[in-house]
Amino acid sequence: MGKVLVLYHSASGNTAAMARLVADGAGQIPGTEVRVREVEAATPDDVHWCDGLAVGSPTNMGVLSWRMKRFWDEAMFGHWGKVDGKVACAFSSAGGWGGGQEIACQSLQMVLMNFGFLVFGVTDYAGKITTCHYGAIAAREPREPEVRDACRRLGRRLAEWVAVVADGRRDQHPLAKPESRTLPG
Ligand SMILES: Cc1cc2nc3c(=O)[nH]c(=O)nc-3n(C[C@H](O)[C@H](O)[C@H](O)COP(=O)(O)O)c2cc1C
Repeated sequence: MGKVLVLYHSASGNTAAMARLVADGAGQIPGTEVRVREVEAATPDDVHWCDGLAVGSPTNMGVLSWRMKRFWDEAMFGHWGKVDGKVACAFSSAGGWGGGQEIACQSLQMVLMNFGFLVFGVTDYAGKITTCHYGAIAAREPREPEVRDACRRLGRRLAEWVAVVADGRRDQHPLAKPESRTLPG
């Protein structure tokens, strides 16, 4: 049974809304157990528990929020070197398009890589013009259908990789399920 953690910080609810969509997407893969944790309520046990995690933060000055950074700097510091090999991805909400969401995702990914996690991107498109190549992104609340779909796709892909990597379920490899993918053109 693949275990997915959706860990997020959200000051005003927008990244929290993304987290719920990411969790919905992860839940689309049968046999996946999904745990959603706000960062202040999260503990290192949540990270140890999971096989894969999606980490979300509001974009703050172009990077992850200090509260999310603090979780990895302080709560997780003593666990460094003990949680390697989990599948991981990122998502972020900013105040507007071009506000630095992808840079914030990269800053989250940098932290995740430092912990030895297997960070991935998504080639699929959500609708015609929306991707989550570097993580799911939103401008404020995820309202647009394509943005909501991108959040779900990220969570779904995370659960697929967890199924493949942690549980050896080759049937869940995205390339084995072309009917479930949407590529441009
Ligand atoms: C300290 C601070 C820094 C911010 N920096 C940025 C930024 O660099 N770019 C941007 O577009 N929005 C920025 N914002 C706006 C938030 O990213 C945006 O409102 C986001 O949707 C908040 O998500 P949340 O509701 O999950 O907290 C900032 C907000 C705060 C409080």
